[in-house]
Amino acid sequence: MKPRLLDLYAGAGGAARGYQQAGFYVVGVDNKPQPHYAGDEFVQADALEVLRGDWPPYPSGDPSGHYHEIYYQLRRQVDLRRFDAIHASPPCQRYSLIARNTGVAGNHPDLVAATRELLVATGLPYVIENVKGSPLINPVKINGGSLGLGSGDMDLPRERHFELSFPFNGLIPPPSRQRRHSMGVYGHGTNAWHREKIGRNLRVAEMREAMGIDWMNRNELSQAIPPAYTELIGAQLLQHIQSERAA
Ligand SMILES: C[S@@+](CC[C@H](N)C(=O)[O-])C[C@H]1O[C@@H](n2cnc3c(N)ncnc32)[C@H](O)[C@@H]1O
Repeated sequence: MKPRLLDLYAGAGGAARGYQQAGFYVVGVDNKPQPHYAGDEFVQADALEVLRGDWPPYPSGDPSGHYHEIYYQLRRQVDLRRFDAIHASPPCQRYSLIARNTGVAGNHPDLVAATRELLVATGLPYVIENVKGSPLINPVKINGGSLGLGSGDMDLPRERHFELSFPFNGLIPPPSRQRRHSMGVYGHGTNAWHREKIGRNLRVAEMREAMGIDWMNRNELSQAIPPAYTELIGAQLLQHIQSERAA
């Protein structure tokens, strides 16, 4: 049986796909509907409530028992006792360079510390992913330039940081510049930066190719982690789980 990973703040599942590639069965949780989610199961719920296990009691105003089955099915899907590991990607807007430079960082929630505290309390191995500048502890840093990600004549640097509750024994080659330009996949539309650098807007097809994601729209891509990153982290996590089981 595959090890089971709970994917918190799941979005459309860039992280999920990488863990699947590493060999996990993945259940995603996001507080917004995610019709394109790429993991194996999806539950719409608040990530912190799932970690606390403090779902509201079964609603008393359901005399016909109509919601009974749905309610307990959802609770069972995210029952922490059924998982081997947890990944969490709290929203990064609070820590991103763009938000800090434009002075709007304070409008976004600071969820890293609250999420970490609850993850530690589960006793399960965990990964917290976020952007450069986020308050992660001794993170492993992955840059698309280390994995050859890009499209056409553009590299995809997209540095992301991963705090791990277990040792990382892998090798990440230093990022190298292989193409003439760099690309950034963020925001909701086209942006002036690309028009200035490469003389035109980025196409969604180029973003998909560079990220290694063929199922997301522009908004979903701008939030996602390239699956190659979590495939690498997932391989280490799998090794850790297997060595703990063998011990
Ligand atoms: C950075 S994106 C996740 C990207 C995703 N890991 C991927 O690789 O495609 C953060 C997600 O957190 C979700 N989110 C924000 N607050 C949340 C909460 N309290 N509980 C669950 N999900 C939340 C947002 O809807 C968004 O989809």
